Amino acid sequence: MYKPVSDMGLKNDFPIFKKNKKLVYLDSAATSLKPQVVIDKITDYYQNYSANVFRGVYRISEKATYEFEETRKIVAKFINAQDVNEIIFTRNTTEALNLVAYSLGKKIVGKHDEVASTIIEHHSNFVPWQVLCFELGAVFKFIDIDKKGYLLEDLEKFISNKTKILALCHVSNVLGTINPLKQIIKKVKKINPNIIIVVDGAQSFSHIKIDVKDLDCDFFAFSSHKSLGPTGVGVLWGKKEKLEIMKPFLYGGEMIDEVTFEKSSFKRSPYKFEAGTPSIGEVIAFKEAIKYIDYIGVDKIREHEKTLVHRSINLLNNEFKNKITIFGPDNVEDRGGVIAFNFDKYHPHDIAAVLDTMDIAVRAGHHCAMPLHKRLEITATVRASFYLYNNQRDLERLVNGLKKVERILK
Ligand SMILES: Cc1ncc(COP(=O)(O)O)c(C=O)c1O
Repeated sequence: MYKPVSDMGLKNDFPIFKKNKKLVYLDSAATSLKPQVVIDKITDYYQNYSANVFRGVYRISEKATYEFEETRKIVAKFINAQDVNEIIFTRNTTEALNLVAYSLGKKIVGKHDEVASTIIEHHSNFVPWQVLCFELGAVFKFIDIDKKGYLLEDLEKFISNKTKILALCHVSNVLGTINPLKQIIKKVKKINPNIIIVVDGAQSFSHIKIDVKDLDCDFFAFSSHKSLGPTGVGVLWGKKEKLEIMKPFLYGGEMIDEVTFEKSSFKRSPYKFEAGTPSIGEVIAFKEAIKYIDYIGVDKIREHEKTLVHRSINLLNNEFKNKITIFGPDNVEDRGGVIAFNFDKYHPHDIAAVLDTMDIAVRAGHHCAMPLHKRLEITATVRASFYLYNNQRDLERLVNGLKKVERILK
C-alpha cells in the first residue's frame, strides 16, 4: 500500500481550472495542462522580444536566442545529457522519431537487415520503422507481450546480429507498462553490441527520472506538450557520435554552413537538424515547465501518480467488480500514470461522451496503438491518465461518472 499523498494542491497554478471549476482532466497522456508560469513566459516572448533567433544582431533577437539556448541547457541537464549539442528541438516526439528513421535508419539499414520494435508502441514509434523496412526491403519485427502486458523476456527471439535498430517505448500510453529499459538495453546489447536503441520517452519524461547516460540508449525522444510545456516542441536527444554520422533531416535555412551553386555544407548537431525557424516562444517557455517540474520533483510526481493509479484500480474494481476490465500490469511499481479499461458492454466513445457531460475528460479509442488493440482483441478502450494536478476527488468523480454512464446507457 502506498502512503496517501495529500492533494498536491497544484490546481491553482493551472488557470484552466479557474474558468472550468468542475473540470476533471484525465487526459494528460494526450497532452498536459499548462501552468501559469509557462503561459506567462510565452506571452512575454510574444509581447516583448518576439524576434527570430540566431540571425539578428539587435538586442531583442539576441535576447530570444539566449532564452532559446537556455532551454537547451536546461533540457540537457534535466536528462543528464553529456553535451548540450546532443539536444535537438523538433516539433514533437513523432518528428524526433522520424528524424532518426530517416537520417540514421536509411543510412545503416540494408536489404534483409532487421529493425525491431514492440507491439505496445504508439504509431509514432511503429509506423516510421515499418515504412522504413518496407522501403528498404528490410524485415520489421516486433516484440510481443504476455497476458499482463509485459514485454516478453526472451529477446533472442526478436533480436539478432542482423537487427540494426530497436525502437521501444519507455512507458506504454495504453497499458501503462514501464519497460525495464536498463535491463532490456543491457540484454539486447549483449546479443548485438552494435544495435542502435531508440527510446520513445513521450510518456515517461517528467513522470520518471530520466538519465540518458545511465540508460545507455542511443536516442531518447519526448514532447514538451505532455510535460506542462507548449505544443510545437519536441526533443530528440542522441549520442554525439551517432548524431555526427547522421545526415540532416530537412534542408534549408539556418542549418547550412555554406551554400554555393555546386554544393552545400552543413552545420554540426544540433543545428544541422533544425532547419527553418523553430517554435521560438514555445521552446523558450518549455524551460519554465521543466523548472516547475523540477521544483515539485519528479520523484514526488511519480509517487503521486502511483498512488492515484493504485487507488483508482482499487476503486474501480470494488465499485464495478465484474463489469470492468483494466488492462496492463497489476503491480503499480510497473505502471505509469495511465489506466485503460473497458466497462461492461458500453462503447468507449459513449462512455467518454457521457463523462464529458459531467466535465470529466477521458480519452476513448485506440490511442494511436492499433496493433496493441488488435493483439488484445479489442477495438477501443477508455483511458484515464493522471498527472501532478489530479487528486483523490478526481478519482471519486470518475467513479461517480461511471455510475451515471451505467444509468444512462443501460
Ligand atoms: C508513447 C507515445 N509516443 C509518441 C507519442 C506522440 O507524441 P506527439 O504527438 O507529441 O508526437 C505519444 C502521444 O500520445 C505517445 O503516447
